[in-house]
Amino acid sequence: PRVAIVVVAAGSGTRLGADMPKAFVGLDSRTILRHALVQVAEVPDAQVIVVAPEGREGDALTDLLGALGDDRDRGSVVAGGDTRQRSVAAGLRAVWPDVEVVLIHDAARALTPAAVFARVIGAVDAGAAGVIPVVPVVDTIKRVDNEEIIGVVDRSLLSAAQTPQGFRRDVLDAAYRAADAEFTDDAALVADAGYTVATVAGDERSFKITTPADLDRARALVTRADA
Ligand code: C5P
Repeated sequence: PRVAIVVVAAGSGTRLGADMPKAFVGLDSRTILRHALVQVAEVPDAQVIVVAPEGREGDALTDLLGALGDDRDRGSVVAGGDTRQRSVAAGLRAVWPDVEVVLIHDAARALTPAAVFARVIGAVDAGAAGVIPVVPVVDTIKRVDNEEIIGVVDRSLLSAAQTPQGFRRDVLDAAYRAADAEFTDDAALVADAGYTVATVAGDERSFKITTPADLDRARALVTRADA
């Protein structure tokens, strides 16, 4: 395949307060990871790599095979690391030689529509070294220090970053080789290596399931979609 999608699912999900790694928490009869993979599987002819918590590779493989169906040969599972960046790096080592475009996606953004993946791939194909989906910031943002407001931030200049984040494969490999610090997303790591990262429209449904309230919201959306 020309495209690989690395789905990072190796986080513990401490903030969710579940008694299992976040990726395996159920939304309905299906896990967060399985929901994410259903959308990923819609991208035609892409290699799919799931980065699972150490020791949970078998559970991740069950979700992956369920989502890919007869297309199982394009899927694989690797074990993650103790930071997101290390988990991504582990996934990148499994990308097949012929792949030219790599997307990195958080399993925790389980309800990201397949159309977002298509937009990101389209922008890389059109020439971007890297591209991320963004949504406008709806809240008014304050700089706060010592519980006092110390400045305003012009909201019109702000965007919230989502995944999947897509990159030319050579760019992402080079940026990961050069990385000597922890970055909060792949776009920051690639920008630090000197590349320009573009944006496309994200989607409200791509919110990251982080807190119990996010889980409630995701469960409500899934239930409504079934009805
Ligand atoms: O914790 P948070 O939800 O922000 O993590 C974002 C994504 O990165 C999640 O899908 C999580 O599973 C993944 N992750 C990982 N390995 C880690 C930490 C997070 O794959 N060590």
